[in-house]
Amino acid sequence: MNTKEAAAFIRENLTTTPAVGLILGSGLGVLAEEIQNPIQISYKDIPHFPESTVSGHKGQLVIGELEGRQVIAMQGRFHYYEGYDMKQVTFPVRVMKELGVETLFVTNAAGGINESFNAGDLMVITDHINNMGDNPLIGANDDDLGPRFPDMSEAYDRRLIDHAMKSADRLGLKIQRGVYIGNKGPVYETGAEVRMLRTWGGDAVGMSTVPEVTVANHAGIRVLGISCISNMAAGILDQPLTHEEVIETTAHVREDFLSFVKDLLKTLPA
Ligand code: HPA
Repeated sequence: MNTKEAAAFIRENLTTTPAVGLILGSGLGVLAEEIQNPIQISYKDIPHFPESTVSGHKGQLVIGELEGRQVIAMQGRFHYYEGYDMKQVTFPVRVMKELGVETLFVTNAAGGINESFNAGDLMVITDHINNMGDNPLIGANDDDLGPRFPDMSEAYDRRLIDHAMKSADRLGLKIQRGVYIGNKGPVYETGAEVRMLRTWGGDAVGMSTVPEVTVANHAGIRVLGISCISNMAAGILDQPLTHEEVIETTAHVREDFLSFVKDLLKTLPA
């Protein structure tokens, strides 16, 4: 099977088993540079792996040690809006599972819907809404991978959310919590759409994360999600949205983001 071939290829380059997977979103790939004794594997070298196309994303796995944990980081992810199907978008999560990953940290840049947020805030994701009109688990279910009808009532592990809030307190970081809505993209939302998403209960909106978290839940991997609020969503402030702003803001919160994730790893509960 493709997942097994990809995992076998990666495993050949490793001497340890990664326990924590990190998916690093737009502008957040710098975390991978902190990994000690890193082994870098370009996506294009891994059998069956798709290739990343969006600027601000590097397109490689970085595997090694971070804060005493064996981690495998995706520096750059695959987005649905790039034209990949849901199976391709989530392929790396399946590979991580095959490699032994039990905990997944998923990060992204997102627009703030909640008007009490500010650009530059970090938000721990408490739940999500799949507004992508698709699902990576459609099709025949492989019962060895997970159940046909997976439970999503705790898509984001409560203990990990708790852990994250405690870590933020310790570090003196003001961290928001909220619901992430995953849209297809690639357009940013209209102002009317943002108002609608707010009535749905969304706090932040982005174009990723939902597929990977869905497959992680199916596979029994516990998930922690962190959004970097790179901008306020359309129509809230009187200004247009640009990808440059997204990248610029994530660069500003880089230090907070790095210390937060590193502390989360250092003190990660078993
Ligand atoms: N909308 C959707 N995706 C995003 C945004 C946004 O405002 N900012 C960063 N990713």
